[in-house]
Amino acid sequence: MIRVGLTGLGYWGPNLARNFDDLADLRWLCDLSPEQRERYARRFPAARLTGDFDELLADPELDAVVVATPVVTHFELAKRALLAGKHVFVEKPPAVAGAEADELVSLAEERDLVLLPGHLLLYHPGVRKLKEIVDSGALGEVLYLYGNRQNLGQIRKDENALWSLGVHDLSVILHVIGDEPSHVWARGESFLNPGVEDVVFCYLRFPSGAIAHMHLSWLDPHKMRKMTVVGRERMAVFDDMELERKLTVYEKAPEQPAETYGEWRTRTGDIHSPKIPNDEPLRLEVQHFLSLVEGAGDRFEGARAGATVVRTLEALQESLVKEEKALAPGEA
Ligand SMILES: NC(=O)c1ccc[n+]([C@@H]2O[C@H](COP(=O)([O-])OP(=O)(O)OC[C@H]3O[C@@H](n4cnc5c(N)ncnc54)[C@H](O)[C@@H]3O)[C@@H](O)[C@H]2O)c1
Repeated sequence: MIRVGLTGLGYWGPNLARNFDDLADLRWLCDLSPEQRERYARRFPAARLTGDFDELLADPELDAVVVATPVVTHFELAKRALLAGKHVFVEKPPAVAGAEADELVSLAEERDLVLLPGHLLLYHPGVRKLKEIVDSGALGEVLYLYGNRQNLGQIRKDENALWSLGVHDLSVILHVIGDEPSHVWARGESFLNPGVEDVVFCYLRFPSGAIAHMHLSWLDPHKMRKMTVVGRERMAVFDDMELERKLTVYEKAPEQPAETYGEWRTRTGDIHSPKIPNDEPLRLEVQHFLSLVEGAGDRFEGARAGATVVRTLEALQESLVKEEKALAPGEA
């Protein structure tokens, strides 16, 4: 059984701990806060507790480290774990700068260690099905796609809507397109906390000519968790707010029938909703990490994809700042 140590027992870490405890040997739990350690001591009695990350790294029997601490600490903790020779599962995003994410990938490759950033949505059975449908060619050439991630709250002070919400949709957009954008643009506003954009609109263009958009906001009347993909032949919508119809494929497209002599018409047909298994994405993610550690699959694919997400977020952030300065030069 793979021996795992987990650091970060805040809101999210215990969910990871539950799955690693079920599927592997959860040996260590680490958190700077004694209250958090105490809180989970009884729930995971077989795990040793520490506030010192180095103690966990020094365990020669430990195979893998799970990092579920705040985003700004990811790079440093993941790097130390890789340098200590441990496989690493790190919550998303793996770093806050592209160069740091690339450094983690290089370290993992040099040492032949798994580095998996926790892009949970990629394990959602609905997103997996969407990718399968796009790759099968059923939608035809993908022209554009867009994500809606809106709600009222949770209002953050430490991260803007781009980094907090955009990381999810961006991982899906890059996964579906299977390429890095050649051009990005972002615009947003900080209505509540100065310097922390609550609403962000993003535009991305890919070498294929496909484009993508993201509407990210925690100041919105609608709770939306949606990704729409428009292909030349069909269109598909993944809607995580739907209980049963998570994915819908629309037989809708423009066409130029011979009898219209080059004029565009629209074609509408059946609306189809494939069955999506009810599997817990987090469990699938943890299973994937453990299988990579055991030697199955490409151990660096997820790490490279995670680094692309960070590089793209960084480029979008640069655009956001540039646009803000251009609009308010006196205040810059
Ligand atoms: N995949 C998802 O859907 C999802 C959802 C929520 C959060 N997350 C990610 O999980 C991570 C944690 O988020 P959270 O909401 O649980 O944060 P949190 O603030 O609730 O918890 C973080 C915990 O880490 C501890 N900590 C901080 N620095 C530490 C260090 N250097 N060593 C050990 N412990 C340390 C804190 O004491 C705290 O208990 C973030 O990266 C976040 O992006 C992912």
